Amino acid sequence: MTTNEKIPTTTMTTLGSTGPSVFPLGLGCMGMSALYGEADRAESLATIHAALDAGITLLDTGDFYGMGHNELLINEALRTAPAAARERALTSVKFGALRTVEGGFTGYDGRPEAVRNFLAYSLQRLGRDHIDIYRIARVDPDVPIEETVGAIAEAVQAGHVRHIGLSEVGAETMRRAAAVAPISDLQIEYSLISRGIEEEILPTARELGIGITAYGVLSRGLISGHFTRDRALAPGDFRGMSPRFQGDNLDRNLDLVEALRKVAEDKGVSVAQTAIAWVLAQGPRQGVDLVPLVGARRRDRLAEALGAMDITFSAADLAAIEEAVPAGAAAGERYPEAQMAHLDSEH
Ligand SMILES: NC(=O)c1ccc[n+]([C@@H]2O[C@H](COP(=O)([O-])OP(=O)(O)OC[C@H]3O[C@@H](n4cnc5c(N)ncnc54)[C@H](OP(=O)(O)O)[C@@H]3O)[C@@H](O)[C@H]2O)c1
Repeated sequence: MTTNEKIPTTTMTTLGSTGPSVFPLGLGCMGMSALYGEADRAESLATIHAALDAGITLLDTGDFYGMGHNELLINEALRTAPAAARERALTSVKFGALRTVEGGFTGYDGRPEAVRNFLAYSLQRLGRDHIDIYRIARVDPDVPIEETVGAIAEAVQAGHVRHIGLSEVGAETMRRAAAVAPISDLQIEYSLISRGIEEEILPTARELGIGITAYGVLSRGLISGHFTRDRALAPGDFRGMSPRFQGDNLDRNLDLVEALRKVAEDKGVSVAQTAIAWVLAQGPRQGVDLVPLVGARRRDRLAEALGAMDITFSAADLAAIEEAVPAGAAAGERYPEAQMAHLDSEH
């Protein structure tokens, strides 16, 4: 990381009516430990440092990303960052997923005693005395959301957590959670090809004063402009199982990317920048506090993503994007069937 500790002056975004003030793009660190094949550790650390140096404050992780690996990576990145950057950094942590030694996922645990246990381990791995936003990754079907959120609210009272978030929940669950304690943000997939939240979830977030941290803004690389038909995926890579990356679906989705590429080229920007900038533009358009989490694992990808912040779209640009990638045009669901069943947001 450079020794320049000047704090970037970009206007910050406040997440919802009660959440923290954050840089308009967050860094999602998942791919540095899991799900997208091997990651280069030195490059991952350099990417986190470059993100902090550019002003990014929100680092998103999950205790189950590489079963602790991702939190330990963030710990190392923060320990080796300049003090000012370390102090500005905010951690957003998901918990609740149950794993096996072999790496399988066997369900979710949202019981209050489990919340306290997950939290204790995360604080230790992160080397911090608090987590800035804490959320269960998927609702535990056997535990009312009120109990899970109530346990996080107790951790807020105790000073171990600053804000409560939600992940992949629908409107009704948002209302039930918000009745228990203030909710800063809902983390949910949102991109040009995943627009399901526009109908009910975004209006509910607006009504309840809950921000959105949008993930998969590049649909896990699919609409980045860098993904190719013949890309070899490592065993265990999520994309090897994702319906949108299979056979004819992949062909149809990559056709959408080529249509988007034409719009991007006319504007003199990249496909990934267009896709990220489109999500960024939806915050003001939809009247919600919306922060895209970019999943860059390398400094060059991060630099490209940051470039999206300089893009403004005219009404004609937005119409051209809409024509290239109409709502609902994606082929295939966003998760394999078994994982779709865990999405409260899809019920
Ligand atoms: N709450 C939830 O359920 C949930 C689920 C999934 C993720 N998340 C969070 O959201 C974060 C982002 O999700 P995601 O990684 O799937 O998002 P993404 O940004 O849609 O995809 C990231 C992938 O896109 C590729 N890419 C190509 N160009 C890029 C560029 N300019 N900038 C960034 N990435 C580029 C990279 O793959 P290559 O490096 O291979 O090119 C990268 O691994 C995760 O890290 C995680 O923290 C949350």
